[in-house]
Amino acid sequence: MAVFVTRRIPAEGLRVLSQAGGCRVQQWDSEEPVPRAELLAGVAGKRGLLCLLSDRIDREVLEAAGPGLKVISTMSVGFDHLALDEIKKRGIRVGYTPDVLTDATAELSVALLLAVCRRLPEAVEQVKNGGWTTWKPLWMCGYGLSDSTVGIIGLGRIGQAVARRLKPFGVKKFLYTGSCPKPESAAEFEAEFVPLTRLAEESDFVVVTCALTPATQGMCNKDFFSRMKTTSVFVNTSRGAVVNQEDLYDALAHGQIAAAGLDVTTPEPLPTDHPLLSLKNCVILPHVGSATYATRNTMAVLAADNLLAGLRGEPMPHELLL
Ligand code: NDP
Ligand code: DGY
Repeated sequence: MAVFVTRRIPAEGLRVLSQAGGCRVQQWDSEEPVPRAELLAGVAGKRGLLCLLSDRIDREVLEAAGPGLKVISTMSVGFDHLALDEIKKRGIRVGYTPDVLTDATAELSVALLLAVCRRLPEAVEQVKNGGWTTWKPLWMCGYGLSDSTVGIIGLGRIGQAVARRLKPFGVKKFLYTGSCPKPESAAEFEAEFVPLTRLAEESDFVVVTCALTPATQGMCNKDFFSRMKTTSVFVNTSRGAVVNQEDLYDALAHGQIAAAGLDVTTPEPLPTDHPLLSLKNCVILPHVGSATYATRNTMAVLAADNLLAGLRGEPMPHELLL
């Protein structure tokens, strides 16, 4: 069972593979992404592929792998980097890592929201650069969650975990949107299913936690931001492409919305001269939603377990049903 691992991953995950009888591991043993040519060469003739969200697994990769490729295991819950139609055509099974990163990502989403609405990075900067001259009644004010309306785009695993964490802050009302109402998921928060336009208009905080799909790509655009209140805060921890970044820039620069926090961007990494980075009211993190030691270890082990189960023709702990 020859497998290709596209990056250095937590040791626990690699150990699972190396200790499995009959598994021959070839790895791109680097912190940096595998160059495309190395990916194409590495996957050739392999039966299994363990990849990351930064690897675009498309027809070219599948053709380079050849007909022997039986399992793809991604160390991520998002799977927008996988050409699922091509994968399905070839009868390849896919494993992914839901649930194990939900808490870490929800926690980061809340941390980012609080950092943005209470202007923490700006305030820290003021302390360092001498901007803090005295206590001033009108200085460094932001927006609090108490009595607010929070709109969640995508009340899935992470969306619900975010709502659960925000509720104790005194949120008055939760709204959500998605492909259809989810009464069982929404009941805990008495969340109301609304169209995207109403969510934009009524929310004091918008949190994006949906999957990136053709339907959600560019969903947060000029029209969306123009409907938001000038006092509202926008947070995206899903995928960068859900947001039209030019429209977001305009909305932030012209005071159409109050502030934004992004854990995900297009592209990643965001070039250091990107206009969004020039704005005080935009906080950008380098896609660290799931970045706790424990979560990343668990993700690596789950990705390895998925791969092995797939190779052995057994049920995977988490298989994506194509
Ligand atoms: P889930 O599948 O549980 O949730 C995805 C949600 O997306 C569902 O609620 C779904 O709603 C919603 N959705 C799909 N289509 C639409 C639509 N047209 N409009 C609004 N919502 C829609 O996934 P998770 O919660 O586990 O993860 C969500 C995403 O978060 C991942 O796909 C990944 O991209 C991202 N992520 C980012 C991380 C980070 O580090 N920043 C870490 C982990 C995940 P419905 O069921 O109604 O279609
Ligand atoms: C995912 O799993 O999809 C995240 O973006 C990284 O953990």
